[in-house]
Amino acid sequence: MTAPSIPSDLHRFIHGLPKAELHVHIEGTLEPELKFELAQRNGIPLEPATPEEVRASYDYGDLPSFLAVYYESMRVLLTADDFYDLAMAYFRKVAGQGVRYAEVFFDPQAHTSRGVPFQNVIGGLRRALVDARRDLDVHGELIMCFLRDFTAEHAMSTLMEALPYRHWILGVGLDSDEKGHPPVKFAAVFARARTEGFRLTMHCDVDQENTHEHIRQVLEDIAADRIDHGSNAFERPELVERIKERGIGLTCCPISNGWISEGIKEREIVGLLEAGVRVTVNSDDPAYFGGYVGDNYVRLAEAADLSREQLVQLARNSFEVAWLPNRARERYLAELEEYARDARRLSA
Ligand code: ADE
Ligand code: ZN
Repeated sequence: MTAPSIPSDLHRFIHGLPKAELHVHIEGTLEPELKFELAQRNGIPLEPATPEEVRASYDYGDLPSFLAVYYESMRVLLTADDFYDLAMAYFRKVAGQGVRYAEVFFDPQAHTSRGVPFQNVIGGLRRALVDARRDLDVHGELIMCFLRDFTAEHAMSTLMEALPYRHWILGVGLDSDEKGHPPVKFAAVFARARTEGFRLTMHCDVDQENTHEHIRQVLEDIAADRIDHGSNAFERPELVERIKERGIGLTCCPISNGWISEGIKEREIVGLLEAGVRVTVNSDDPAYFGGYVGDNYVRLAEAADLSREQLVQLARNSFEVAWLPNRARERYLAELEEYARDARRLSA
């Protein structure tokens, strides 16, 4: 048995830093222990293995090889209680990492396509958001993602299915395998979503084929309110300028980058931060990549030797680009500034 590690000052500072998480797939928070528990509850046979063996088997070199494991695991998620337990486990975990507010992705098509009713998914998730706010003082909201390797028609019918629940869904996103599925494939779906009052975001995963053109499409053709990942913009000054002009946020996920591409992309992420882009740090699929949002701040801070002020700026960005009402945003920002002030005083 290994001894528990003693948190460093940096670790303590980061985990106490009030922050918003804006890029986490709730299905990507399914830890192997919960997967086994849900499989047993639902009478689903799993290959005999321990949670440790499952974790040790995770080895993906790119986005499709990760997605294969991610979708396969979802078959244990069937009832509203399953989705509730999944989301509550996430909120419990991040309440201890300084998360005050989270905009959480969910992938309804990955469930409805297996025969799980949309209502089970949204009903369980919604109940968890209500309980997390009451019991953990963490405010969560939902972003419904469309699977880009499904058709645009399937996305449109999912949008229609979600309309009765629109008051529980803040925005829509686009995820899954990017290769051959550019943002403009979903232009009509996102235009309709906007007219229905949803905020818009889309994944531009790191180092994808045609990534710069995909980022341009998200900015100009879709005019989304945020970009998920998008750090390849750093390689094109005109994209950096356009992102800054529009003032939109990028939701970067360093540990995830290291699994599906080469390295955690600290040069790009910090380069964008220093260029004045509203970069944020997030976890993506923490159960599969081995790091929740605070752990992602720590990894980035260690790799790029970030100052406390840069870490505070990342957390500030997370509230500034969150889809929060202004009053709540101001409250969270005030909490963050007080934390930063106290930390400065203690280290002076
Ligand atoms: N779905 C879950 N995680 C994802 C990621 N990192 N990229 C695209 N789709 C995803
Ligand atoms: Zn993602």
